[in-house]
Amino acid sequence: MITNGVEMLQKARAEHYAVPAFNVNNLEWAKAIILACEKMQSPVIMQVTGGAAKYMGNFKVAHDLIADMYEALGATVPVSIHLDHGTYAEVDEALDADFTSIMFDGSSLPLEENVAKTSEVAKKVHIHNKQLEGEVGTIGGEEDGVIADGELASLEDTLKVAQAGVDSLAVGIGNIHGPYPDNWKGLNLAHLKSISDMLYDKLGYDLPLVLHGGSGIPDDQVQAAIKLGISKVNVNTEGQLAFHKAIRNFVQADKDLEGKNYDPRRFLETGTEAIQAMCEDRITVFGSNGKA
Ligand code: 13P
Repeated sequence: MITNGVEMLQKARAEHYAVPAFNVNNLEWAKAIILACEKMQSPVIMQVTGGAAKYMGNFKVAHDLIADMYEALGATVPVSIHLDHGTYAEVDEALDADFTSIMFDGSSLPLEENVAKTSEVAKKVHIHNKQLEGEVGTIGGEEDGVIADGELASLEDTLKVAQAGVDSLAVGIGNIHGPYPDNWKGLNLAHLKSISDMLYDKLGYDLPLVLHGGSGIPDDQVQAAIKLGISKVNVNTEGQLAFHKAIRNFVQADKDLEGKNYDPRRFLETGTEAIQAMCEDRITVFGSNGKA
């Protein structure tokens, strides 16, 4: 069933596992992710950034690709179709395209503006009975060779965004998009625990927390973070690396020169299988297998 993901995330939070949130880059990704989740009986969030939507055409193409692939494969596991790192304008575009779940990323805005815009978006999203993820504290990454650690949000700021009407919250705890550098200090699990404890104390319930930059974090750290309240783990780079490696090996072994392997349906097959294997592996680590 295609759902908004609210119950999916609350169940994960209560039962101490995380729902995998895989980014969809094209048709091969959509297919591999659904096949993996169906095989593992895992709920899944299939997410699309504005950039990926543009690459595929627009948000409608991306939505329909996921929804139609889900139907074509006869899938039954709960799936949510989610806007990843949405800007204020992209929120409307994704809602118009029937996305069931929205992330509004106001983390680069001054705090008061992030809170104001997040609560405005929350009203819109909830009128349509969809899920909203907010973000507080920036998630680091590499830009033009400069590596940023990511800014840890204060507990005070975290509470303000949490109270802006979100159903889930992405927190910066030293996580980074893209591959982790060798000198990366690891997740700040102590800060995550403080966030989790404070939110329960102030809100009176466990708000599902989201870990971005899920590729390449040692499994024991991801599992420790899940125990502390992470209910959704975002993975993109790991699928791209798996796909690239498989295709590269295929070409380097001259397999692309055999028979009709120039046909993209054959040329890309090994890459698609590698994405599926990556998804199955992550599902096992996140503990979402059998939770559909
Ligand atoms: P990675 O590409 O590092 O896995 O991060 C994905 C992500 O957080 C998407 O929002």
